[in-house]
Amino acid sequence: MAIPQQAQIEQFAKDNHLQGLTKVSLKALMDQEPGYSVEKAKKFLAFQQRINTELLQHDVITGNRYTKWFQQGDLSTDQVRDFVVQFSVFSNLFLIAQLKKVINADTLEGMRASKEILANEIGVIFHHDTKSSKERDQFREDADLVSTEGSVEGGTFRFRAAHFEWLMRMAEKLELGFNDIGKRSHGTKSTLFYCDELARIYGNEDYLISQAASYAVENWAAAGFWDELVDGFTKYNENTGSKLPLAFFTYHAKIEAQHAAHTQEELEELYFDRDIDEDQFIKYGNEMLDGVAAFWNGLDEERKKSG
Ligand SMILES: [Fe+2]
Repeated sequence: MAIPQQAQIEQFAKDNHLQGLTKVSLKALMDQEPGYSVEKAKKFLAFQQRINTELLQHDVITGNRYTKWFQQGDLSTDQVRDFVVQFSVFSNLFLIAQLKKVINADTLEGMRASKEILANEIGVIFHHDTKSSKERDQFREDADLVSTEGSVEGGTFRFRAAHFEWLMRMAEKLELGFNDIGKRSHGTKSTLFYCDELARIYGNEDYLISQAASYAVENWAAAGFWDELVDGFTKYNENTGSKLPLAFFTYHAKIEAQHAAHTQEELEELYFDRDIDEDQFIKYGNEMLDGVAAFWNGLDEERKKSG
């Protein structure tokens, strides 16, 4: 009787003391794919230990005071407004960092992966290769209706499917007009610091620095802040009878849940494929998280003033 592949992989991991590696990497090792060796895998696991202690314990991952407070939902309308304005600045200026990531990609595959994010951000709806979803996406553009999976390849572009426009429709309900949101001039010092750090590190010319920032940002996002924001808004709507459309946030919460599963696989793939400078990876990952923390801490200070 053939041993199921799952059991084979587990046995291989055990025999070689490689527990903790993702299945994708274990499979590649078993298949002796180029760049994969047990020796390098052991080096990776040691590096992962460093990442766990020197990067993933960052305050903004382990305990974000602002989003924890926001989640309680005890929000004044001014506080919600301030939040939406700062978030809209980040959402808009993020496009610059993402475009830099496209331009600075060092493989066609990397460039396309970054374009997926950029194009979806500005309004290309992810496309599933089925007739029914194609028909569906021709008529849908709202965040709670469009697909969170698939590719922008063959997808439909709709102005109203731009993430910024979803946020704008939420802002309208808070009596914020088009020129009240999204511009650099609306950003606080800490919000702009964050956006500029994204452009500098996430959009870096050195692909490995940019990947360190991506890994750090993905791990922060996977720590659950989107869900915390959705909780807070939901309670705010209930408490005040407001009908703020939350789709911008629920869409991103859904997308993030899908990303999280791939983040670790991507890091391992990168490690086996390239020669990672481990100190540099941890240094820039932390600098990126300091930028993220500045954004949230800035919001935290503001809300205490306006509460
Ligand atoms: Fe987005």
